[in-house]
Amino acid sequence: MSMEKVYLSEYEKSPYEVKTIDLEFDLDSTKTMVKSKMIISRTGEENQALFLNGDSLELVSIKLDGRELHQSEYELNEQGLSLHQLPAEFSLEIENIINPEANTALDGLYKSGGIFCSQNEPEGFRRITYFIDRPDVMAVYSTKIIADKKAYPILLSNGNLFETGDLKDGKHYAIWKDPHPKPSYLYALVAGDLGCVNDSFTTMNNNEIALNIYCDKGNEDQCSHAMTSLKNSMKWDEERFGREYDLEIYNIVAVDSFNMGAMENKGLNVFNSHYVLADADTATDSNFMGIESVIGHEYFHNWTGNRITCRDWFQLTLKEGLTVFRDQEFSSDMNTRSVQRISDVKALQERQFVEDASPTSHPIKPEAYIQINNFYTATIYEKGAEVIRMIHTLIGEEGFRAGMDLYFKSFDGQAVRTEDFIWAMQEASGFDLEHFTLWYCQSGTPEVNVTSVFDKKSKSLCVTIKQTFSSPTQVNQKPYFFPFKIGLINGSGHECRLQLENAEGQTLVDKGVLLISKEEESFTFTGIKDAPIMSLNRNFSAPVKVHTAYSLSEYAFLMAHDKDEFNRFEASQTIASMVLHKLIDAVEKNEAMSLSDIYSEAFSKVLLDMNMDMSLKADSLSLPSVSMLMQEREVLDVEAIYIARNFLKRELIREWGADIQAQYASLNTEKEYTLQSAEIGRRKLKNTLLSYMGALKDESPVLLQYKKSNNMTDRLAALSILANSRGKGKTEALNHFYKRYKDNTLVMNKYLAVIASSELKETPSNVRDLLEDEVFDIKVPNLVRSLIGAFARNALHFHAIDGSGYAFIADKVLELDKLNPQIASGLSGVYKDYGRLNDTAKALMKVQLERIVNTSNLSKNVYEIISKILA
Ligand code: BES
Ligand code: ZN
Repeated sequence: MSMEKVYLSEYEKSPYEVKTIDLEFDLDSTKTMVKSKMIISRTGEENQALFLNGDSLELVSIKLDGRELHQSEYELNEQGLSLHQLPAEFSLEIENIINPEANTALDGLYKSGGIFCSQNEPEGFRRITYFIDRPDVMAVYSTKIIADKKAYPILLSNGNLFETGDLKDGKHYAIWKDPHPKPSYLYALVAGDLGCVNDSFTTMNNNEIALNIYCDKGNEDQCSHAMTSLKNSMKWDEERFGREYDLEIYNIVAVDSFNMGAMENKGLNVFNSHYVLADADTATDSNFMGIESVIGHEYFHNWTGNRITCRDWFQLTLKEGLTVFRDQEFSSDMNTRSVQRISDVKALQERQFVEDASPTSHPIKPEAYIQINNFYTATIYEKGAEVIRMIHTLIGEEGFRAGMDLYFKSFDGQAVRTEDFIWAMQEASGFDLEHFTLWYCQSGTPEVNVTSVFDKKSKSLCVTIKQTFSSPTQVNQKPYFFPFKIGLINGSGHECRLQLENAEGQTLVDKGVLLISKEEESFTFTGIKDAPIMSLNRNFSAPVKVHTAYSLSEYAFLMAHDKDEFNRFEASQTIASMVLHKLIDAVEKNEAMSLSDIYSEAFSKVLLDMNMDMSLKADSLSLPSVSMLMQEREVLDVEAIYIARNFLKRELIREWGADIQAQYASLNTEKEYTLQSAEIGRRKLKNTLLSYMGALKDESPVLLQYKKSNNMTDRLAALSILANSRGKGKTEALNHFYKRYKDNTLVMNKYLAVIASSELKETPSNVRDLLEDEVFDIKVPNLVRSLIGAFARNALHFHAIDGSGYAFIADKVLELDKLNPQIASGLSGVYKDYGRLNDTAKALMKVQLERIVNTSNLSKNVYEIISKILA
């Protein structure tokens, strides 16, 4: 196995292009015959060889312009097939055999349950047939699928259905033709005995599109939310971006075994069933929201990804960052914008900030990789979306729309680079983005220190903004250019008018956005009577960490008065973090802990505010997660974090228990389950309050909610609290839940995650037992993520002082690597705190990291991650 790196700087155009490819599959579980006929033409030098990628294929025959080639006329190795001395244009017919059932990597064509399905991004197509498997080779595809009619009545591929018919021996066939040229990673094939839900959508130009969602038979009634989300996505992309769908049919297939969430194959999306199936009894509010956003995301790729694709995989954020931005905007328009923003930023802070501070830190446009599959990261996706959002903030909604229009007009049907996107944005808006492009090539999270001096005489406030930038994996970085949205709030809680002294042209764009471009710069605001409090980085206008010299009281003030909803939330988290870090210090130094009065009062103000949006209230009353707190510690003492966090919870319920319980009771009314934002907010607040009540001795309210609830959101919230309790209710509820949902694997995922996430000391042995349980199957990625992944993210147990957590996960990484390297490498990312451990823990982890990296036949995927962590 080669561990060679691929570099962006070494990109070269393909010397050949594939104009058309006609595929024929004779489906069989272990021996599927694939016939391909390609029309290929030379675009490079005459003497250049043609190289076709191929991986795990059994070659049967090759014909060049109709003549079968002898073995001596081509070269075949582990990576693929080379042909020399070719004419300028020719046809190539290849026959090969693949084994879908043996494909446990779930990459290429594989079987999930009884269903044939494919996953080709980024490099799966080479596991189906020999091809120039890179995104800038775009061809027109047709597919003939032949299969047993009884076992596989449904036969699907990309594009429009062209012909179907019966064959002898109980077989039948279907021919699909996709008129749009596309890269091989967007190719898809599905065959099976599937249930189906149909609907239709009429586009802005009055084209009627057939919409189908396929799933396991019996699950059809769980597809309605996905279907509604699809129609909403189609409408939204027309209204917000003027983009119309471009085929006669849009198919979505839900499968149980899938490495990722979902895939945007042209006209034939394949989804992890987790992101399709939902009803009130089995799915939580956050599952419903997740479905809406992922359905939207894959639909939006039709323009940002499929019509315009990536030149090479270093450009991945071109389609993913942009499409995440689009799905975030879609969710904001469908639900509550500020609530959506908080949840998106939280996800960024909890996952991407951690990644960017670790040995796997990389720019949104990486320079090199060993295995591209390792780069579907929070950085490429979430930070990539923040970079697009900054452009949106800089040039405004109108400028952004004009930029998108120009991007589509200029590059439709092409495979392009992030530079092409920036060009369109700059050209359409007239805004200079050159300095801004550093965001594409620098890694690490910038930090911004803000200080201010108020001068009463001149009624002015001088604000100094200093950025620091560094990365664990880069040197010689330069200052960034970014929009920094601020507000000034006076003592009575009102906004000051923002008036800049000598505002030179662009330093302040409208709505309080400062343009920061230097390492250090000062802005003087005039006409201010009394020293104001600054509200900084409003709505999280830039993906940075902000530092001030503000005390708890000043953050408490912002928490109460900031007009920016995001910043009110952010202030609640900052103040809670400050308090928690003091408590953690106390635990570490063996000193007594006590509740901060200022925080307690700020908490109660929110608690007793009956006018606040319930979802925002719930977010503001929640404590920062363990993962957020871990980021700020120089040397990790995980147990101390848990002790401090649990102490604060207990103190808050001791102090405000009566109010919390009364409010919980008033929210816990029997109601029909609906997905209106207000209802989702009510449940979120209710369950946040319940989680505080979980710290009480009496578990009966939690158990009662578990028993009485008519929906999964409330039931699961109660169950996770009980899973951390010592009372009788825990066993009762867990047993009941298991019995009730044993046959529903999506719900069993929740059960496994709840147990694996528990702080209780029996968790490691519970997890080991569940590995042997009949509901668990190590070949199904969702189950691995729910049980093993959740345990690995359970910092308390993963970092067990005897090193048992490290060893257990290493065993699983190695076991999984033989089956599914992509899932194994996803799991191996949990070791990335290596550098911040104390010496004892570090030595224990090192043993495991070395054990993994020294294993023979290790995949490139795991090797790349572990070797970076060790370096
Ligand atoms: N193109 C990706 C899916 C993908 C990438 C699958 C690489 C397999 C390998 C898709 O558009 C995507 O981004 N899916 C996300 C969900 C999305 C809402 C962020 C996923 O699968 O996690
Ligand atoms: Zn995507």
